[in-house]
Amino acid sequence: MLNLKLGVLLGCVLLLATVALSASVGEYEELCRLFKNGTKVRKPGTCDQYIQCYDGNGTVLTCPSNQSFNPSKGSCVDTLANSNKYCGNRCEGLDGEWVADPTECHKYFYCMNGVPLAGMCPVGQHFDERSQSCLYGVDSMCVDVNNICELVAENTKFRNEKDCAYYYECDKTGNHASKSCTVTSKKREYFDVESGNCVEANKVECTAHSKENVCTSSTTMTFKSDQATCRGYFVCKALYPVADLDPLWTQCPEGYFFDEDRQLCANPTTVVCTHNRCDGRGTMLVTSSSNNCHNYIRCVDNKEVTEETCHWDHFFDETVEACSSKIIYDKCCDGRD
Ligand SMILES: *[C@@H]1O[C@H](CO)[C@@H](O)[C@H](O)[C@H]1NC(C)=O
Ligand SMILES: *[C@@H]1O[C@H](CO)[C@@H](O)[C@H](O)[C@H]1NC(C)=O
Ligand SMILES: *[C@@H]1O[C@H](CO)[C@@H](O)[C@H](O)[C@H]1NC(C)=O
Repeated sequence: MLNLKLGVLLGCVLLLATVALSASVGEYEELCRLFKNGTKVRKPGTCDQYIQCYDGNGTVLTCPSNQSFNPSKGSCVDTLANSNKYCGNRCEGLDGEWVADPTECHKYFYCMNGVPLAGMCPVGQHFDERSQSCLYGVDSMCVDVNNICELVAENTKFRNEKDCAYYYECDKTGNHASKSCTVTSKKREYFDVESGNCVEANKVECTAHSKENVCTSSTTMTFKSDQATCRGYFVCKALYPVADLDPLWTQCPEGYFFDEDRQLCANPTTVVCTHNRCDGRGTMLVTSSSNNCHNYIRCVDNKEVTEETCHWDHFFDETVEACSSKIIYDKCCDGRD
């Protein structure tokens, strides 16, 4: 049994030579993007180096000699004998066992009398220490690197890049659990890594909108708002009697907003939307969806900066980006009827 498994794994070792040659340059940007700005992360596979993450960018720093980085303290401390089983030789004292390589999800070591022999799983698979085998990536808990919680302080919460409504939390034993914000069809919250809280979906910059509770079972293809942006929508396939659980997310072109009632992309002045109305509008003044067309929003680089009200009961006219004495009822304003 053991020999068979070893044979299979050794087959993968040969693959190592041909596939993985160099670590990519953007490696730590990927890791840093998961954490709150300013987080210090022990460099995977080392004891005395750490990555200082600022604005999603990582700088590798080294502790003074004879010191190790302690993730819980966020600083370098005097090295204690066998102080951390994840940063030294992971095979120490082991024989005939597999351990995860702390630098990559798909790599592992086979321990032979304490000596680590490197190997890697087939493409698309991750090494799983608990079952001592390679699993398909989707079935594994590995995020970016193996044992990621060993690199940061306990109770750290970090992003799930596959779905903005989900996040991970490290426990005291160095493992992480997947957690979810509220995502019903009526209320959508996304994880905000800076505050460590779930907040209104439209307050979070998201590159993986949650597909949960979006589509309903239907006999025709339908478009559903992502409920977090004014331009983004999902394409729900007609899979009646079941709902499409993996709809494609896409966006209206810049200068257009998605209208779920009409099932199309339309001029923003005709679409009610209270998310970021500056999305795709660049730097300009746009009509607000509140205060009966008296309000406008100042957009700078596609972001809402301030919301202001026209003087003397004037109405905002988006076509000329100015307040006007003319009565204007854009269809995007409240009090529309
Ligand atoms: C991240 O932290 C650095 C240093 O504290 C700060 O200068 C920078 O503005 C922060 N970035 C964001 C996006 O808050
Ligand atoms: C990260 O820092 C490097 C060097 O300081 C810089 O060249 C690179 O553009 C930065 N990347 C990001 C995403 O800010
Ligand atoms: C580091 O440890 C070694 C071996 O224990 C010792 O010889 C050396 O003096 C130490 N260096 C410092 C700077 O403490």
